[in-house]
Amino acid sequence: MEEVKIALLGGGTVGSAFYTLVQERLEDFHALGFSPRFLGVLVRERTKPRPIPDELLHTEPMDLLQADVVVEAMGGVEAPLSLVRPALEAGIPLITANKALLAEAWETLRPFAEEGLIYHEASVMAGTPALSFSETLRGSQLVELHGILNGTTLYILQEMEKRRTYEEALLEAQRLGYAEADPTLDVEGIDAAHKLTLLARLLVDPAFPFPEVKTQGITRLTPEILQTAQAQGEKVRLVASLYGEGGRWRAAVAPRRLPQDHPLARAQGNILWVRARPLGEVFVTGPGAGGGATASGLLADLFRFLSGHLGHLPAPAPKPPTEEGTPFPGVE
Ligand SMILES: NC(=O)c1ccc[n+]([C@@H]2O[C@H](COP(=O)([O-])OP(=O)(O)OC[C@H]3O[C@@H](n4cnc5c(N)ncnc54)[C@H](OP(=O)(O)O)[C@@H]3O)[C@@H](O)[C@H]2O)c1
Repeated sequence: MEEVKIALLGGGTVGSAFYTLVQERLEDFHALGFSPRFLGVLVRERTKPRPIPDELLHTEPMDLLQADVVVEAMGGVEAPLSLVRPALEAGIPLITANKALLAEAWETLRPFAEEGLIYHEASVMAGTPALSFSETLRGSQLVELHGILNGTTLYILQEMEKRRTYEEALLEAQRLGYAEADPTLDVEGIDAAHKLTLLARLLVDPAFPFPEVKTQGITRLTPEILQTAQAQGEKVRLVASLYGEGGRWRAAVAPRRLPQDHPLARAQGNILWVRARPLGEVFVTGPGAGGGATASGLLADLFRFLSGHLGHLPAPAPKPPTEEGTPFPGVE
């Protein structure tokens, strides 16, 4: 049995769930011939309750160069980047759920991704397969992709359909723990734009810049706008779209009016809907957040790494097909 030494950065919602899931799945590791061992778990405060043995908790970064794999679930950009970079330089793979890190520090991280050192299934739609789903699409030519990639804004819009104002729906989302105290990343569409950037890099252009995503959030929507749409047989959703237009790829996140019977309008969780040639129309839907769901995406990557599969590499950059994609109509 070969030991696999894991350094875990972050022991919050996702990190704790990942730690627990690894303990629950020891037999699956053993079946692959591996015995997982946590070198340590990086946190800010030792005293918070969490399902991780006290002796594993570190408030100062541990020596990541002793690890066989680094799993990052701490969030942010600069702090995790400064920690994982030396490990990547030493050839130690990184498994991460952090879409902000990947979207915004890509210039630094791309060479390591191209070496197959970065695994990030959990960064888009948590454990619902979005990147492995997209990888298989490479056999077809993408025409357009549309996704609901942020659960917080979906919840807020669903509440506004019940005549709550935006402010009321946001407060309720915060009370239930769906929205952060500072909801900016979610409600301004930035979180969805981070995820769309990662999909664009995988599917159409490995250099796709995050600032290229035209981003509009939901803060200006009113219950009246949603109800008018409903009266016309439509639903308003925050949709992340990647489509060919004028011979180039466009990426946008914006509130869109969707026909009520479209899979995007009917989805109760995150969804990725794609039209490609010759494949046709396909979609995948499921939870896009939650400790367990996200931990399952991280664990899938750990199994992928241990089984010798490469991470999801960026694709080459084809021009879009002459057939153009059509984003749904906007709201304002
Ligand atoms: N939650 C989800 O459903 C979900 C879904 C998909 C992706 N993600 C991504 O997963 C990552 C983690 O999310 P989360 O919800 O688990 O966040 P979280 O609950 O806030 O956990 C973050 C963890 O990292 C630790 N941490 C943060 N900054 C640190 C620093 N500078 N030094 C030491 N420790 C630090 C925190 O320590 P303390 O515990 O001591 O505060 C905490 O344990 C984020 O990148 C997020 O975007 C989350």
